[in-house]
Amino acid sequence: MASDTPVDAVVLVGGKGTRLRPLTLSAPKPMLPTAGVPFLTHLLARIKAAGITHVVLGTSFKAEVFEEYFGDGSDLGLEIEYVTETEPLGTGGGIRNVLPKLRADNVIVFNGDVLGGMDLRDVLASHTEHEADVTLHLVRVGDPRAFGCVTTDGDGRVADFLEKTQDPPTDQINAGCYVFKREIIEKIPAGRPVSVEREVFPSLLADGRRVFGFVDNSYWRDMGTPEDFVHGSADLVRGVAQSPALDGQRGESLVHPGAGIAPGAVLIGGTVVGRGAEVGAGARLDGAILFDGAVVEAGATVERSIVGFGARIGPRALVRDAVIGDGADIGARCELLRGARVWPGVALPDGGVRFSTDV
Ligand code: GTP
Repeated sequence: MASDTPVDAVVLVGGKGTRLRPLTLSAPKPMLPTAGVPFLTHLLARIKAAGITHVVLGTSFKAEVFEEYFGDGSDLGLEIEYVTETEPLGTGGGIRNVLPKLRADNVIVFNGDVLGGMDLRDVLASHTEHEADVTLHLVRVGDPRAFGCVTTDGDGRVADFLEKTQDPPTDQINAGCYVFKREIIEKIPAGRPVSVEREVFPSLLADGRRVFGFVDNSYWRDMGTPEDFVHGSADLVRGVAQSPALDGQRGESLVHPGAGIAPGAVLIGGTVVGRGAEVGAGARLDGAILFDGAVVEAGATVERSIVGFGARIGPRALVRDAVIGDGADIGARCELLRGARVWPGVALPDGGVRFSTDV
């Protein structure tokens, strides 16, 4: 459908990203650096690769940041427009709110925090074949309990839509990408918060609308938590996940040309080192993400963790499965493990936080 019939793309980017705090205190989640570019760039490149050029961003939280960076989209070969909610309208309300900007009869809608490899032309083709009102991209996951589960019948028609449940009847989950007939969007109530998952989809099913699932086995990851963000970023660096926004070179690390890496530092596991960041001698970075200007001093270890803009990790400190906020200063020999989150600007003195008693 995409190349011959016009389709609009809508990306919902208005969420507060609370699960990724404190990183999302200063930047909205879709703008966090991911393998060298703001996360949203990967999704926009996929949209472009599918032959879609008109993109509307539904913004709310830190709305201005998106337009400052992407402008009219021409650098990416896109035409990007912005619609801002003064009060967040939720996922369904956000879709309804961009209606005045939509031009095509069919609209592909994305959550702005999903890293995926699905060819968008396939879900659009499936939507056309089924003459669907709505087509949901579904993926199969090992543990569906944290997601919206979607059961389908033998023809792929959606039977039930269940938000997070402890006893999921299927391993098919809502992958956060939908194709809507424009007329369905027109029916979403305007001017109030609406959840597409809890309100729009259940009511479409209750009304007997043609809602279909498109299931595929491509790469998929919701980047909403630190664990997933670290994992997804490493997958992009190592080529496990593909993105048209990255060139073909993949390896154990991605280092910005302006970063400084001292001799003897080890960078593995899909580590990313941002612009102006510094890594000291003998430091070990395994699946680490260093935002621009971050510093890891000599002999420190950073594993599966994110180090925010301008933050510093002191000599021989250990940071594992942690998030270090922008500008934080972690003293020498500190140990930050297992989900620790340090708020922006916080300074920990040398040896000030330990999990062990040796010095
Ligand atoms: P958490 O607070 O960590 O759950 O993150 P979030 O606020 O991003 O929520 P969630 O991950 O459930 O949102 C899924 C997608 O919808 C993300 O891309 C959000 O940016 C987007 N989104 C969530 N709420 C709104 C909203 O009220 N308006 C708009 N325009 N987008 C939203």
